[in-house]
Amino acid sequence: MINFTTFVVFCFCLYESFSYCKEYTFPNNFKFGVATAAYQVEGAWNTGGKGENIWDHMTHTNPSSILDRSNGDIACDSYHKIKEDVRLLKNLGVDFYRFSISWSRILPSGKTDHINPDGIRYYNELIDELLANDIKPFVTMHHYDLPQPLQEEEGGFLNLKLADYFEDYADVLYKNFGDRVRDWTTFNQPTLICFLGYSGEFIAPMITRKDGGYLCGHTLLIAHAKAYHLYNKRYRASQKGRIGIVQNIFWFEPRTNNIEDLQAAEAANEFNFGWFANPIFSKEGDYPQIMKENIEYASKQEALPKSRLPEFTQEEIELIKGSADFLGVNHYTTFYCSPVEDKSIEIGLFYIPDMNTNCIVDKTAEGSSSSWLKVKPTGFRKALNWIKQQYDNPEVIILENGISDAGNLLNDCLRVNYYNLYLTEMLKAIHEDGCNVSGYAAWSFMDNFEWRSGYTQKFGLYSVDFDDPARPRTPKMSAFVFKNIIRERKINW
Ligand code: NOJ
Repeated sequence: MINFTTFVVFCFCLYESFSYCKEYTFPNNFKFGVATAAYQVEGAWNTGGKGENIWDHMTHTNPSSILDRSNGDIACDSYHKIKEDVRLLKNLGVDFYRFSISWSRILPSGKTDHINPDGIRYYNELIDELLANDIKPFVTMHHYDLPQPLQEEEGGFLNLKLADYFEDYADVLYKNFGDRVRDWTTFNQPTLICFLGYSGEFIAPMITRKDGGYLCGHTLLIAHAKAYHLYNKRYRASQKGRIGIVQNIFWFEPRTNNIEDLQAAEAANEFNFGWFANPIFSKEGDYPQIMKENIEYASKQEALPKSRLPEFTQEEIELIKGSADFLGVNHYTTFYCSPVEDKSIEIGLFYIPDMNTNCIVDKTAEGSSSSWLKVKPTGFRKALNWIKQQYDNPEVIILENGISDAGNLLNDCLRVNYYNLYLTEMLKAIHEDGCNVSGYAAWSFMDNFEWRSGYTQKFGLYSVDFDDPARPRTPKMSAFVFKNIIRERKINW
């Protein structure tokens, strides 16, 4: 005879295990892809008339800025491997390939004084080969690699004039490729371009100005909106494509249940994601209120004449508001936040004094080889729900998700496990919470140049032998698993 409590516990466990085993399939029109970025895979840094970009410049003039003193001069040599790479993509069964166009390969000076014919040829060949294999090109216009002359002569994204140069560049892209490219995104991870590149010495151009990140952000938002409206005005009717932006959403949780930590986590989410999403996707179309207040307060404390965060004119607000057809999202991991005054925790990767916030990783969680990336799948579902709530459930396309290991592991169990767990959380967000997610790209198609970490961190489904001049690619276990997920349209545990 079992007593009542045992019976209740038994029923509960049964229910739990049913819901755990519940098998979700991917919605019928859900699209799968894999992602890369030009500087990380192309190589051919000075071939065919390409100009120098800020990563060429930094890695050549300051090699010790990269952990293994490497660079993207050859990288995966994808520039010379169009057919081979598209064959591998076809084999994976993806619907789309997300890659970025190198601004300096198209416009060596960054401006339209010279359009490089070999750059146009290269991307034409890539796009045509993809389409011939029934794979849609999903193009990022800018993924960290600004032309060096725009940095050196114009001050990079600190200068609002860059918004016009970006619009001109977008025009060249639409004109040359828009007859075949339907899916465009303007910037990859603007928060990181600006916060890490212009306010912290983490990525090129390694500028450290307290107001640098915000000035950069202002330029990027205006640049994005100009590129969007240009498309509407001149190309949308004939090309029938769509334009988005790719925002990184790390998920920020309170470190404890204290109100201060709750506020710190919300501030971090607004700073990391809302900074760029709010002006484009919210009804009011401006920076998040909490950002405006915190930065104004911090600026006052330093007796600055005005806030470090620039203000939009009403005209700019109207230009930016609604300027996207979908929201591209990259997600990797979760951080835990407290106010900066809490000295019981060390300074974390997301230390944002202007927002009175300091966020750290969970050191006890299963880790990757990157110090910032821990396996925290439930944060993915929470992040998707947060987006749904904040921005009225916009169409979201996951354009990066993945994990790194070190060495040349072909039996990459950590990655297989990560994808299974994260995709399951995403499916729960879709089926149980009604989040409007229509596609997913794994980062990355192949091992590549991981910015300041050089070739020490591997994110690929394919391994690349960087010691072999032929750069051979070998599928890892995760490539077979991902292929199977695409074919079966469900997770096979
Ligand atoms: C996001 C960036 O877009 C990509 O370039 C980078 O390699 C991955 N994160 C992994 O760090």
